[in-house]
Parts: sequence; structure tokens; C-alpha cells
Amino acid sequence: MNVIYWEINEHSNNLKGMENSNLELSIDYALRFVKTYESIISKIQFSEECQIKGEGIELGAGFGVMSSVLSKLENVGKITCIEYSKNLLENIMPLIFQRLEANIEKIERIRGSFNHLEFNNNTFDFAIETLAFHHADAPYKPISEAYRVLRRGGVLIMIERAVSNRTTDDTIETSLNTHLGKRHLLRYNFPVDMKITRAEWGEHDLRFIDWMYILNKVGFEVKLFKSFYLKKRILNKLFKSFYKLSGIGDLIFKKQLTYFPLYDYYSVSRRAGNAIFICKKL
Ligand SMILES: C[S@@+](CC[C@H](N)C(=O)[O-])C[C@H]1O[C@@H](n2cnc3c(N)ncnc32)[C@H](O)[C@@H]1O
Repeated sequence: MNVIYWEINEHSNNLKGMENSNLELSIDYALRFVKTYESIISKIQFSEECQIKGEGIELGAGFGVMSSVLSKLENVGKITCIEYSKNLLENIMPLIFQRLEANIEKIERIRGSFNHLEFNNNTFDFAIETLAFHHADAPYKPISEAYRVLRRGGVLIMIERAVSNRTTDDTIETSLNTHLGKRHLLRYNFPVDMKITRAEWGEHDLRFIDWMYILNKVGFEVKLFKSFYLKKRILNKLFKSFYKLSGIGDLIFKKQLTYFPLYDYYSVSRRAGNAIFICKKL
């Protein structure tokens, strides 16, 4: 199926970066998430109330890993991927679909923004997003759009980054003002000496309770909320503990030593975890 194009009037460094993605590094990066996504989906399928079935929409579909996983589920009829980046949609997603043996007959790709969905109310049975909404300047928007296009009884699954409820505004600001590390820059074909902060890259750090507040305000009933770690790599964990216990981590972070091994991992994850929110439109 060909890509469908909607009109978009939004621009950010993150979106520009995605257009610039380095093919090999991006594929390598995307494939790391396959097992985690598969295991999350298989666990969700056990819950009677919030099963993923029927017609769905993936918002900020990125490399297409989650849509590939979902396309192989018998209960899923069709999955529509909304993604801003033409590069990901046209060049990278097809390669990921092939690598993961996705059922491409079921997948529709749309170049559009999750802030303005050109669908009628009550169109989909489920909506899903993985690590995309924290890039929205106003996360309320894509969450309201997801609510609008879901049918009654429809399910929204959000797999998102969230910082601890105790994190102060100052800490969030400091964290968002750290520079992206070398590996991150290489993945998006930026010059390795470029200075760009997480905030300039379009990231936002929301606490668990901030996400909950928005979901409830929009009208969702949050059925399940669970925090988890996305990258369970043992080496990363060991490094993280070592950095933390020795105090080196704080130095790397404060001095923004972006060339340090695992700088990206440590600077982002030292205060943040990931969370799964499973919500229902009643
Ligand atoms: C961190 S990536 C996550 C990609 C994918 N969901 C995954 O888990 O691999 C965030 C994605 O959201 C997309 N994105 C950001 N803002 C968007 C918007 N307003 N509309 C559609 N996609 C957007 C970006 O282009 C990027 O592909």
C-alpha cells in the first residue's frame, strides 16, 4: 500500500532529525525494541477488558516496529500508522516490515500529525503510541484526538517515558537542558560536535501524575498503570549503578560529557522510567 499524505503545518528539530535518520543506525536502534513490545502486547492480551482487537491506529509510529508486531495478531483487522516523517514512512518502515515479517496487507501508512487526525469520531477500536507523545508540545492534544477517534469501549495504550512524581520543575528543566550525546546525533546524521539540548530536540518530561491528570481530564478511565524499564540490558544497568554509586554519573551529567560511554542512556534514564497506561473510553 502507498503512503497517504495529509497536510501538516508543524515543524520541530525532532521532526527534522527524523527526516535525516541514518538508515543503518536507525534500523539497528528500532530492532532493539521488538522483544519488549512483543512481551508487553502479549501480556495486555491476557486482560479480558482491554484486549487489542479490531481496527487500530498507531500514533507517531516511527520505525513501524509496534505496527509490525500488531499486524501479526489474529484479532487485529487493520492498523493505521500516523507518522510525521516521510523518511521513516517511505524508506525505513518498509525495511522494518520486511525484517519483522509484518502482515503488510493490514497496515496503512499516513504522513500526518497526531495532533490533528483527519478521521471521524468513533472510528477505531484501539489506539496505541510508544514514546511519541512526550514529543508533543501539548500532550493534551494527541490524547484528546485519540479519545475522539476511538469508539465507546475503545482502548488507548500508551507506552511512555515518565519521571518520578517527586521530580521538581527545576530538575526537569536541568535535565531538558542537557545536550544530546554523540550516538544520538549520529543516528540522525547531525554533526557530532553539534550542541542541541533535549528540549531543543522537542522532548518534554512529564511525571506519572501529569500523564494521569491529562488522561482523566480528557475522559479516559485508566484501567492499568505500570512502570517498567524498556532497556533491560544488563551492561547498561551495571554502568548505571556504578555511575550512581561512585558519583561519576552526576559529574558526567553536570559537565555534559557527551562523549562518555552511555551518556545518552544515563542522562535520560537517571531520573526517568517508562510506564504503560491502558485506558478505556467509556
Ligand atoms: C521517539 S520516536 C518513537 C517512534 C516509535 N513509536 C517507536 O517506539 O519506535 C517519536 C516519533 O514520533 C513522531 N512524531 C513526533 N511528533 C509527531 C506529530 N506531531 N505527529 C506525528 N508523529 C510525530 C516522530 O517523527 C518520531 O518518529
